[in-house]
Amino acid sequence: MSLTYEEARARLAACQQEQLLEFWSRLDAGSRQTLLEQIAALDLALLVKMKESLPGLMPASIPTNPMAEVTSVPPESLSNEDRAAARDLGEQALRRGEVGVLLVAGGQGTRLGFEGPKGTFALGPLSKASLFAIHARKILACRRTFGKPLPFYVMTSQANDAETRAFFDRNNFFGLPSSEVCFFAQGMYPALWPDGRIVLEAPDRLFQAPDGHGGVLAALQRTGMLDDMCRRGIKTLFYFQVDNPLVDIADPEFIGLHLRAKAQMSLKVCAKRDPEEGMGVVVRRGGEYAMVEYTELTREQKHARDAAGELKFKYGSVAIHVFDLEFLAQEARIGLPLHSAHKKVPFCDAQGCAQKPDRPNAYKFEKFIFDALPDARRVLVVDFDRTEEFSPVKNASGPDSPDTARADMMSKWARWMVANGIRVPRTPDGGLQHRIEIDPCYAVNAVQLGLRLPPGFVWAGDLDLRGEP
Ligand code: UTP
Repeated sequence: MSLTYEEARARLAACQQEQLLEFWSRLDAGSRQTLLEQIAALDLALLVKMKESLPGLMPASIPTNPMAEVTSVPPESLSNEDRAAARDLGEQALRRGEVGVLLVAGGQGTRLGFEGPKGTFALGPLSKASLFAIHARKILACRRTFGKPLPFYVMTSQANDAETRAFFDRNNFFGLPSSEVCFFAQGMYPALWPDGRIVLEAPDRLFQAPDGHGGVLAALQRTGMLDDMCRRGIKTLFYFQVDNPLVDIADPEFIGLHLRAKAQMSLKVCAKRDPEEGMGVVVRRGGEYAMVEYTELTREQKHARDAAGELKFKYGSVAIHVFDLEFLAQEARIGLPLHSAHKKVPFCDAQGCAQKPDRPNAYKFEKFIFDALPDARRVLVVDFDRTEEFSPVKNASGPDSPDTARADMMSKWARWMVANGIRVPRTPDGGLQHRIEIDPCYAVNAVQLGLRLPPGFVWAGDLDLRGEP
């Protein structure tokens, strides 16, 4: 849809946003067209909701003490028999081809400070395999084990969509059939000044940022991916984030537990490293499930202990979920709530010059996938060993960085080797003397590794075990 200048002015007047045409007289024909297209694309109903969520503009809708009647939801207690039976159920679903994999990879990766989509970051300790390669090879391994397609849905954003697609293309989809890899871009949201006006980043351009991982629901619907999933016979979706190389993709046990519980949403949680670790906590609030973000917990709540001395909010979510597809489709129709955050937003000043603020100046908006929780009647929370499955790449250095993720990957592979009776050479301080890398298509666990290694295998130096292409 294209607007004339008069139509654009009328549209903006209706929502008190005429300042977007402030630089009109200075723009050339191309820039005018660009601006008109952005104005035409503005979602005015959404704009009202955004304004409503700004502090001070409307009465606060969030309770003053959101933690007042909150109790944490502990993980299920599961016996080995429960887990084995669930694994069987999960494997059956995978063998029927009823499972799909959903990756959210539209984030900006600001903390890592890496140019390009985070999934293209080279993480393999020896191979320099990218995060995308590591994930895709796990899917390929699973596909080979169960003999059925495991369609891979990859959410990108406008900023990284073309680069992500080209990266998969250049790498032959890491061995996956290209027809089973589906890319779709999430939506973008404008930012607002504290008084509700939309921020211009340049005289002809509104500032826009991805609409959060919760944007995945609207994007799945808008791009026809939900229909695509139905067409392929998918009933259950495994959801994960791009930054965790240890994730056990389409883990049959987790899928089986979800199916056995007839859950609409299942979440993996693990014990927090320390009470202050920045993880969300699954709770019951007013009879509903919810995720409480670590920023919402007071210091006392983070450190509170029960009678047995355990932290009351001991377990954090690591954003590894299983969804029932029907539930996800229902949530996509209902829509998730909007969150605003005061952030540093680049803008253009009264002269039209680009400015980068050094402190928060405007509000950005996002949706969060875990906001589907309050609508779920049946939720399953399962704990797992984080050393096996969680080591995210968030920061450029220090905790949760490429260095820690590589070390955790190698420690995991070393444990598989030890479990198979192989002596792993160590440095005096207990570190690994050599680097290790095991391609998921070679083995995805200690048992598979045992079946692969030649009898009498002796390890002498750096070890790079690759699977079939
Ligand atoms: P993070 O919250 O870690 O954000 O995203 P980020 O953008 O990757 O990194 P920072 O905060 O800028 O440093 C967690 C997961 O959610 C995805 C990310 O790609 C990552 O897999 N995500 C986040 C989206 O897909 N879209 C978004 O708008 C935000």
